[in-house]
Formats: sequence, structure tokens, C-alpha cells
Amino acid sequence: MVSTTTCNPCELRKFVIPEIITGINAGLLIGRYLQHFGAKKPMIVTDRGVRKGDWFQEIEKEISTHVKSYIIFDEVTPNPKDTEAMSGASLFLDQHCDIIVAIGGGSPMDCAKCISIVSTNGGYILDYEGVDEIKLPGPPLICIPTTAGTSADVSQFAIIMDTSEGVKKAIISKKVVPDLALIDPIPLMDMDLYLTACTAMDALTHAIEAYVSNAQSALTDIHALEAIRIIAENIYHAVSDKRTIETMCHMMLGSIEAGMAFSNASLGAVHAMAHSLGGLYDLPHGECNSILLGHVIDFNFDSAPHRYRKISEQMGLQVQGLDNALVKTNLLTEIQHMLEKVGIQPYITLASSDADLDRLAGNALNDPCMVTNPRVLEKEEVKEIYERIIRYRE
Ligand SMILES: [Fe+2]
Repeated sequence: MVSTTTCNPCELRKFVIPEIITGINAGLLIGRYLQHFGAKKPMIVTDRGVRKGDWFQEIEKEISTHVKSYIIFDEVTPNPKDTEAMSGASLFLDQHCDIIVAIGGGSPMDCAKCISIVSTNGGYILDYEGVDEIKLPGPPLICIPTTAGTSADVSQFAIIMDTSEGVKKAIISKKVVPDLALIDPIPLMDMDLYLTACTAMDALTHAIEAYVSNAQSALTDIHALEAIRIIAENIYHAVSDKRTIETMCHMMLGSIEAGMAFSNASLGAVHAMAHSLGGLYDLPHGECNSILLGHVIDFNFDSAPHRYRKISEQMGLQVQGLDNALVKTNLLTEIQHMLEKVGIQPYITLASSDADLDRLAGNALNDPCMVTNPRVLEKEEVKEIYERIIRYRE
């Protein structure tokens, strides 16, 4: 339980981040950095949607002028699959590549991390599920994100779908922290508004879960709180047609701060349940988190009331003079309003024959993110939360 907002600096904690370059046109530095790394044949990992964009062409041009040859692996799909990681790793080895450049949202970056693991350590990608199961560091990995939320570009997490079981597996290791993140706001201007909303809510969830995590530290708290403030201040402008490059720079920064916090403090029940839900029904990660966030806060609040009060303050809510019960109600109302204003429905729709609450709850309880939730959940409690967010088709 994390009951106060102060930290004990005597407790052992680690904090790992990559080299990070931020700002307008950071992505265009890729050529120079490939030279710094002494790259001979990079493998670009992306998806077909990103590859069609003008911005990708600009980055590819920079790469092509700085190395003699490179290959593109664009077979990554949303919620990247174990099979995609395995074919990417085979291609990397067959083509004698020596560095990986991931360009895209969370899916290409997670898949790139998995390609890096298998190309060096061999075996099957799911062998590395869990915490610190990777023996050898992979080839250099450069991430150039095109969304602001997943933070795979700064994190020690890789999420991959186990296609035989229909469940997302988390691989957590310092060895999947990228060597370099080139974080550029330019591609964020082209993100569709719904994707912007989902990724922003994902980032907000990262920050909130990191701040109440059992593994938080003084260093993660600073970044988590700043992320909550930045995202709450900028999310509505970011999901409007009138967004500006300055707003998207703020969202980029909010996402990085949230990423540095959760990468080192881990997450909680929202992510554990979202991984299970998104894995079984192939749903967008940010959407699952957005829908679950309020319900998990409702469950967790009394385990860390001081911390949720601080979160409320960072979101611009009045807390002084209010008792915990009222602060909790106001925070839950704010999150509900936030979902309405950014256009995310507060439930998912399934055919009743498809719903498998027992399996969903079992998978969520096995997810490593569940371990750092500030309150222990029993299986029936997890099922109850799922019941609240699932609507059945007629
Ligand atoms: Fe996430």
C-alpha cells in the first residue's frame, strides 16, 4: 500500500531511460545517429499505414543517404503478434542487419523490441515473458514514435500477443530500453482525433498507475505528477481540429514523462485488465485503459487516498477542505467527463456468447502489472469490474 505522498529515499530503487532527443524535426537526426552507431545495414520496423505517410518518406530519405543498404519490415499489425516478431527476427538475421529502427506507434516499437530479443537470444519470443528473463542485450535499437502515449520509445516494457492463447504477454527488462529515442511532434499533427484521444488517455493512465504503484520512487513521482498536469491541461486542445504544434509538443512531453515514470515504477490493475481485454478481443490498448481507469480508481482509492488527492490536484481539481469521499467522487466524475469530451465510450460491446469473464479475470491476475497495484484484487472483484464495462449486443 502507498499511503502517503512522501517517499523514503533509503529504499532501493532503479531508474533507467534511453538517450532522448525531443523537439521539432528530431526524427530527421536519424541519419546522423546511424553514423554515430556505425550502422551498416539497418532494419526499419513499421506498419503499412505509417509507411504510406509523407513523414515516413522523409525519415527513409535521411536513412538512405547515410547508409549503403537497409531493409523495411512493415508486417506489424495492431496488438503485435508473436508470429510477426519471429518472422521479423528471421529476416533480421537472414539479411545480416546490425541495427533496428522502429518507426510508428506502440505496435511497431514493441515488435521491434521483440525482434531485437530473439535475434540475439534465440528461442521463441514468449520464452522471455515476465521480468528480467532476457540474458543478452540485442542490437542497437532506435525508436521514432508517431503517437504520443504508448511510451514504448522510453520504456523497459514490450507487450506481445500470444496468438495461441489470445492473451497479451508482458516482457519487462532493462534490455528492451531503446538506445535512442528521437521524439518529434511533427507526426502527431497528422494523428486522427480518436487515436489522439486513446493514446493521451493511455499516457494519463501510465502516470496515474505509476504514481500509486507499490514500486514508485522519488524519481518516478516527479515525472508522474508532471505528466498528469501536462496531459490534463492539453488533452482537449490536442483532440480538436484547432490543435497547434505547441499543444502537440506538450502532449509529447507529457507522454515522455509518463513513460519514464511507469517504465521504472511499473503499472497496475488498469493495464493488467486492459492487456487481458485487448488480447482476447483484439481491442485498442488506449481504449481499454480509458474505459477501465475510473473503475479501478474507484476500487483503489482508499488504499492510497493521499496520492489520489495529489492526482486530483494535478488535474486541476479542488481538494482543499474536502473529505476523501468527495475528492474521490469528483475525480471519478472528472474522468467520466474526460471520456465524454474526447469521444471515448465508457463501455465495450460484445456478443454475450463471446464474453468469457472467467478467462479475462484469470489472464488479468497473471499479468505482471497486477503485482504493483496498490490494492490486491480477488478474481471475483476483477470479474465485477469487467461486468461493469461490458455491454451485450441484442
Ligand atoms: Fe499503456
